[in-house]
This record gives sequence, structure tokens and C-alpha cells, in this order.
Amino acid sequence: MQKPFEGVENLEAAYDLETPEDNIKLYAAWAETYDTGYRASMDYILHRQVGETYHALGGGPKVLDIGAGTGALAEVMVPLGPYDMDATDISQQMLDVAAQKGLYHRVFWSDVTDAMPVDDATYDGVVSSGTFTLGHVGPEAIGELLRVTKTGGHIVISVNEHHWDALHFERALDAVADHYNTYETRAVAIYGDSAVHKHKDDLARALIIKK
Ligand SMILES: C[S@@+](CC[C@H](N)C(=O)[O-])C[C@H]1O[C@@H](n2cnc3c(N)ncnc32)[C@H](O)[C@@H]1O
Repeated sequence: MQKPFEGVENLEAAYDLETPEDNIKLYAAWAETYDTGYRASMDYILHRQVGETYHALGGGPKVLDIGAGTGALAEVMVPLGPYDMDATDISQQMLDVAAQKGLYHRVFWSDVTDAMPVDDATYDGVVSSGTFTLGHVGPEAIGELLRVTKTGGHIVISVNEHHWDALHFERALDAVADHYNTYETRAVAIYGDSAVHKHKDDLARALIIKK
């Protein structure tokens, strides 16, 4: 049975994480209730914002979902496809939920702040929702996203608005400017119109990088 405010409590605990090990521990406990107790009960829509943005850009079919969690992005993108999606995450328990949905081709564990077990220029596109946020992954991972993306490919990731400023994403993007063609950001809502909780107006950016 869902406890009231469980989604908000877990979200705030997630924002306070500090290390990859903290993430592994929290998401191991959250995986089973993430879809119902967080996504559905808080009207989380960030995965839709990212998936629909990638699709509207005409991104290619072979796509890697970073911090895929329980597979929210594949739920949006696979019906829009054809997309051939792989999933990676630092939480094996979250990946196990995603794998059960049968939407991803390859599902593999990795810490994106380290090195992913993926060859250079493997993917037409890289997508990510909810992972570049407070307590999770910062701009240090952008180089790894660029490495696995083909030239001409698209990267579309959400970045929490406070996280964007606090971790100086703009500066980090400027530092690797030789490795991509252009980038832009668009303001997007994290939660939908039926959200009633205290984070309902939180914002993110959709960061779009063309390699
Ligand atoms: C808020 S959830 C988002 C999940 C999914 N993308 C969604 O939109 O519902 C954040 C995810 O990032 C993953 N994560 C955190 N740190 C990570 C890292 N260093 N490498 C890969 N995944 C990470 C967590 O395990 C978790 O599944």
C-alpha cells in the first residue's frame, strides 16, 4: 500500500545524495515502488519531454538511455519509433524492473561518471531523463555521452534547473566544444498539470547537443 507523500520523501532523499554508492543504495530500495509511488502519484512527465523532443528532432533509431531507471523513456519512445533502445543505470534493481518490460535490447549496468562498456560512436542518439539532477550525475559525464554518440547524432538529456547553475553546465559544455557541433536548451516542466505536491512547479532544461 502506497504511503502518502512517499514520492516526495524519496525525491528529497534522492536530491540529498552525494556519491554513486548513495545512489545505488537508495534506488535499490525505491525500485519496486518507483513507477506507482513516484511517477504516477506525482504526475512525473520529464521522460515524455525528453522522448518527444528526441523524436521531433528526427534522431536516429539506435539510442542509449542513460540512468534509464525503470524504463520510463522507452515507454514513451518505443511506441513513437521504430527505436532500438539500450538501457544503462547504476542501480541493478531499477534495471531489473526496466528489463521486465521488454522494451530495451541491451540492458547493462554502468556508472556513467566512470567509463561505460560501450565502443566509441555506437549510437545515433543518447537520451536521459531525471538523471542529471541534484545528488545524481553532473556535467563530468557529458564527455562520455559524446564519446558513444556518432558524428551527426543527437544527445537529449534533462538537467534540473538548479543543478544546471550549481554545477556550471554551461562552462563544462564550453570546455568540450571541440567535440560537438551545436547545443541549445529549452525549459521543460518536470511534473504535469495534475501534480499537487510541493515540487509541482520544479523546472528542468532539455539540453540538446548535436554532435
Ligand atoms: C530519478 S531516476 C530517473 C529514472 C528514469 N530515467 C526516469 O525518468 O524515470 C535517476 C536514475 O539515475 C540513476 N543513476 C544515478 N547515478 C548514476 C550514475 N552515476 N550512472 C548511471 N545511472 C545513475 C539512478 O540509479 C536512477 O535510476
